[in-house]
Amino acid sequence: MTQDEAKRLVAKRAAELVEDGTVVGLGTGSTATLFIRELAARKLKIRCVASSDASHELGLSLGMEMHTLAELPALDVYIDGADEVCVAGGGLNLIKGGGGALLREKIVASAAREFIVVADSTKLVEVLGKFPLPVEIIQMALPLVEPKLAELGFTPRLRQKKDASGPYVTDEGNYILDCWSTGIAEPESTAAEIRSIIGVVEHGLFLGMATLALVAGEDGVKEYRG
Ligand code: 5RP
Repeated sequence: MTQDEAKRLVAKRAAELVEDGTVVGLGTGSTATLFIRELAARKLKIRCVASSDASHELGLSLGMEMHTLAELPALDVYIDGADEVCVAGGGLNLIKGGGGALLREKIVASAAREFIVVADSTKLVEVLGKFPLPVEIIQMALPLVEPKLAELGFTPRLRQKKDASGPYVTDEGNYILDCWSTGIAEPESTAAEIRSIIGVVEHGLFLGMATLALVAGEDGVKEYRG
């Protein structure tokens, strides 16, 4: 099974879990996009809040009823992809933000009763941190935050736009530093250290937030509960 086939399989499975009448948070990225398309095809009576402008626009284009958090501050479920999924130790810990939407993703996820992460099996890791950890920062704080992240052992790189025309800017107008490391052995303490840096808006460690992970691979879709 290719990675794209696995993404499609898990996106379909997640869409099947959504019930009529619920308020659904829509994630961001290629797996989330497949999920949104599958969900729209089911023509359920649901209301949605998206974690990015791109997913909001996609939902609208597919005829979904899109809202803001101001209109619907409590969600039944948030469904999104991840860059890394760690199930070691019984919990569900993630790295997210590869698509640049980590801040809104964390906000929308925090508003949901359930958070289902959808991933292909290449995202499963024993230790988080092979994927560079995205850290969203205030633009003017770049020269202060970068050395502080380096002091923590990371090698931060300012994310660039795909067309290389300048730094990537998030939906909230911030920069992203992609922080390379040899692995994040203590994610809780690392998350606290990053958060304490003035100028950091949010980081891509989603620790203990997901309630269920659906992971697709050669053996079909496996479930891991948080
Ligand atoms: C976007 C994200 C995505 O969920 C993550 O990057 C995974 O993306 P994909 O489904 O394209 O592999 O966190 O900010």
